Amino acid sequence: MDSQLYVPPQGPPQISAPHFFDKIGLEKLYEMAWIQYQLFKGTSIASLFPVEEEALKEASEKQAEFMAGVMGGPRLYIEKHGPPRMRARHVPFVIDEAARQAWLDCYKQAFVQCDGLGLTQDEQQVLLGWIEGFSAWMVNRAG
Ligand code: HEM
Repeated sequence: MDSQLYVPPQGPPQISAPHFFDKIGLEKLYEMAWIQYQLFKGTSIASLFPVEEEALKEASEKQAEFMAGVMGGPRLYIEKHGPPRMRARHVPFVIDEAARQAWLDCYKQAFVQCDGLGLTQDEQQVLLGWIEGFSAWMVNRAG
């Protein structure tokens, strides 16, 4: 195990993702994840992601399918890939706080471009709050 591995002090996310799937739908989640993943290009975290367009698209689809499941929709990610184990799946990639901020920045830009996924202002705040907390748990290097 990499001795540099960092475990965030707050521990795993304490709250479940808001169950907004019925309001959002799968297509919107695919669309938003693809916008976010395209925004990674040219950022400090671009090198973490596939260069090839088709592979990048597939990676974005995985994220959308994970989001669908945690938001109360079809559990496509689990059906295709097994238990989420998201922190473990992220460990091979060096993710420090700066990388998390770059990721969040792209998430928020994509969220705006997708009109906040059609959610009310209050719902948007709840979702973004969950994303903030969940992304903190993906951080695996001090930095
Ligand atoms: C709310 C926060 C996040 C969620 C829900 C999320 C979700 C996911 C999912 C579902 C995958 C696919 C895992 C697999 O099956 O291999 C993934 C992969 C990945 N994530 Fe995240 N992630 C989050 C935060 C982050 C952050 C902060 C970073 C780094 C800046 C990051 C970097 C990556 C990378 C590099 C991959 C692998 C891409 C590939 O080559 O397929 N993620 N993420």
